[in-house]
Amino acid sequence: MKVLVVGGTGRIGTAVVDALTPGNEVVVASRSSTVGVDIGDAQSITALFERTGTVDAVVSTAGATPFPVFADTTTDHFREGFDSKLLGQIDLVLRGIPHVRDGGSFTLISGVLGREPVASGVVASTINGALESFVTAAATELPRGLRINAVSPSVVTESLDVYGDYFPGFTPVPVADVARAFVKSVHGIQTGQVYELG
Ligand SMILES: NC(=O)c1ccc[n+]([C@@H]2O[C@H](COP(=O)([O-])OP(=O)(O)OC[C@H]3O[C@@H](n4cnc5c(N)ncnc54)[C@H](OP(=O)(O)O)[C@@H]3O)[C@@H](O)[C@H]2O)c1
Repeated sequence: MKVLVVGGTGRIGTAVVDALTPGNEVVVASRSSTVGVDIGDAQSITALFERTGTVDAVVSTAGATPFPVFADTTTDHFREGFDSKLLGQIDLVLRGIPHVRDGGSFTLISGVLGREPVASGVVASTINGALESFVTAAATELPRGLRINAVSPSVVTESLDVYGDYFPGFTPVPVADVARAFVKSVHGIQTGQVYELG
């Protein structure tokens, strides 16, 4: 299979690339990688698919969300996160449809904050919830047998040094387990699923 991994240079993305590389042709894309893309820029996504040509699967582990304290949260914080993690991933799907083979798949990243809030997490919670609703709805209408799933991990064990303070008492999930959920989505038959980890 030819698999495009957008965000494949990041913490989770690197593990997904490692898990998918045996037996697949993996194309890594991000703002800083050789195959460049900014998912917040529609033209950049279009150019990405022109460059990759037809693929069997599109995986996204990309996007970032701000974590402002609630009292200081503004609509600009929401716009920043929406443009990157929410609309960026949705646009990958909408623009990617003609470039994915019949029966191929999309797998997006959401996160535990869509189901369990934490302090300063209101933007991330909103985005993750919206992403999961998008996946559930899009799965019912995608053409040509295309599938779509989301992976929704708790804080990743390997990211505890950065994000651990935001997640007191949460059970972390090893990044290898997150990567396996992406493999299940890419190589499996399920659609409209949200794989909750941790
Ligand atoms: N780490 C965790 O504990 C955890 C838990 C649950 C959910 N998540 C979610 O998982 C996703 C990845 O997390 P991570 O920890 O792996 O983050 P990370 O290490 O910062 O990696 C983010 C990846 O996305 C790419 N990226 C960011 N913005 C982009 C854009 N506008 N266009 C294209 N590529 C972009 C980055 O590459 P460039 O900078 O080169 O563009 C990088 O490859 C995030 O959405 C995060 O909310 C993370």
